[in-house]
Amino acid sequence: LLKCRIGPSVLNSDLSQLLNESQKLLDNGADYLHLDVMDGHFVPNLTFGHPVVKCLRGKLPNTYLETHMMVSDPIQWIEPMSDAGVNLYTFHIEPVPNDILKVCRKIREAGMKVGLALKPGTGIEAVRQFIDSADMILIMTVEPGFGGQKFMNDMMPKVQWLRKNYPLLDIEVDGGVGLNTINACAEAGANMIVSGTAIINALDQKSVIANLRETVER
Ligand code: DX5
Ligand code: ZN
Repeated sequence: LLKCRIGPSVLNSDLSQLLNESQKLLDNGADYLHLDVMDGHFVPNLTFGHPVVKCLRGKLPNTYLETHMMVSDPIQWIEPMSDAGVNLYTFHIEPVPNDILKVCRKIREAGMKVGLALKPGTGIEAVRQFIDSADMILIMTVEPGFGGQKFMNDMMPKVQWLRKNYPLLDIEVDGGVGLNTINACAEAGANMIVSGTAIINALDQKSVIANLRETVER
């Protein structure tokens, strides 16, 4: 039923080699790719947008692609990302507190799955009433914007609460997740594991991915 999936973040990879980096991650056991889209407004950083995602989709027709939309206007990018071939569109609820249901509906109408993302400072009560309208909840374990930050263990009660109340919900963690922090995520009940630098900087990506998977599955 509840499947564990490992979704590396390509944010800190060599983005001039995005296809090669992605292919390597998939060859080494990644289940999906977590693509961090930043607009320089919701977060103080820029990455890439739908044109790059569309090119990547062209070369990887069968890969499950998630876009983590760290943007101020999540509605604006629904059609372009759908057209680019995104499977799971994960947006932050903080910039659109009064439009969450509307955004969820538009994402579904565009043929994508819906992920709701919470910054560390956002409590679970902000998302409670929308869980049934989503396919996945992302609990951020760092402040969004940059890879390579320190894992915030005090986010685990949010994951625990979700797992306790929603045994079958897809719960994703993102930020500072690696071999030293995966245990906490697994015990709290996360089943979708995003990991950036811990995988990208590893000499043996395959064993890190396998290790993360083993910890979550046991
Ligand atoms: C942070 C991004 C994360 C990040 C993960 O804003 O959402 O996906 O790239 O990288 P690590 O695992 O290095 O924290
Ligand atoms: Zn992310």
